[in-house]
Amino acid sequence: MTGGIAAYKAAYFIRTLIKNGAQVRVAMTKAAANFITPMTLQTLSRHRVYTDETLIYDDEIVPHIELADWSEIAIVIPATANIIAKIANGIADDFVTSTLLASACPKFVVPAMNEKMLTNKATQRNMERLQADGIHILEPEMGFLAEGYDGKGRLPATEVIFKWLTQKMLQEKTSAGRDLKGKRVLITAGKTIEIIDPVRYITNRSTGKMGYALAQIASERGAEVTLISGPTNLLPPIDVNFIAVKTTAEMAEQVKRYFEKMDIVIMAAAVADYRVEKPATQKIKKNSPNLELKLVKNIDILKSLGQLKTKQFLVGFAAETQNLLENATKKMREKNVDLLVANDVSRQDIGFGSDQNEVTFLRPENKPLLIRKNSKKEIAVQLFDCIDSMERR
Ligand SMILES: Cc1cc2nc3c(=O)[nH]c(=O)nc-3n(C[C@H](O)[C@H](O)[C@H](O)COP(=O)(O)O)c2cc1C
Repeated sequence: MTGGIAAYKAAYFIRTLIKNGAQVRVAMTKAAANFITPMTLQTLSRHRVYTDETLIYDDEIVPHIELADWSEIAIVIPATANIIAKIANGIADDFVTSTLLASACPKFVVPAMNEKMLTNKATQRNMERLQADGIHILEPEMGFLAEGYDGKGRLPATEVIFKWLTQKMLQEKTSAGRDLKGKRVLITAGKTIEIIDPVRYITNRSTGKMGYALAQIASERGAEVTLISGPTNLLPPIDVNFIAVKTTAEMAEQVKRYFEKMDIVIMAAAVADYRVEKPATQKIKKNSPNLELKLVKNIDILKSLGQLKTKQFLVGFAAETQNLLENATKKMREKNVDLLVANDVSRQDIGFGSDQNEVTFLRPENKPLLIRKNSKKEIAVQLFDCIDSMERR
């Protein structure tokens, strides 16, 4: 909220948002606090208000980054000529402008000002710049201005602003709906198996559901998808380039073949880390009381990609049964991935075989992001949203 006479009307808008189920955080400029008190907005939004004065930076929290990351949309209401000029030029000299500059979410600006300020060439130029940067602007209305005469510059009625906002959000969603168009996405899924003899093998409990959900969502969002999968009981999504493999070595070979041309690479398969050194060519007979199998280490596919990567956005999965975040953070660093999905496979209700999962996204320069228990499809949606917002920065 910025320092215009229409600030009191914006208070009604906050109520409308909340009535419609939104969670609202208010950040206001110093000038805005001359028009309406933080106390009023705190009561309406049911949360403390962010102002330059109340800002406390500690070791843990940098409030403008925290708020920027938390927000799914940002709306400036009322927007002064001053803030429009600042946003247009990337100025970040207070809490509101710093937060806006740090946020990657869709932005909406509702200007309200005197007609002379509005029609000034500088303001018009700045508004055009905002639109060119993909920020939505609602045209102010004609009507009786605070200065006591009719003119253009009034803040539209709350219902008009709300309708405009929801329509634009829908538009954002539909265009975001094909946000992976033109991207090449490589996904590995399922388990790999390592041969012991012609009838026996070693494997793990992965079913491939997470990787297949990722392939389906990427394909629905317009990507050209290559899915390299170990044996599963699942049908591959239509419209993907499907490659079936069995062993880790086969998977590594196929991944290497495709890697260079890819934009996003997601290693969701649970590969066997070891293979039998010398698989028997004939079925092993049960003659002796003990049988020893010598296992040797397989190639670490994720690590080798971390070393190879140039433009590719690389995502790894870490299935852990203990010290989830600690082990996964270590893995993220060692493997040089851009995002690691940490997965607690000791829980019965999620993970292997389940349609649901609860994961944490770890990113090198960001706080861990917990994705609460949800369907694997929804986790896939959130993963691509997260990749999208990281790539936009
Ligand atoms: C009584 C009064 C009313 C004002 N109303 C507006 C307004 O409606 N729109 C606007 O753009 N500026 C208005 N201003 C000017 C802004 O308050 C001023 O440009 C301020 O620096 C804006 O700061 P901010 O953008 O950081 O909130 C008004 C100023 C005063 C003193």
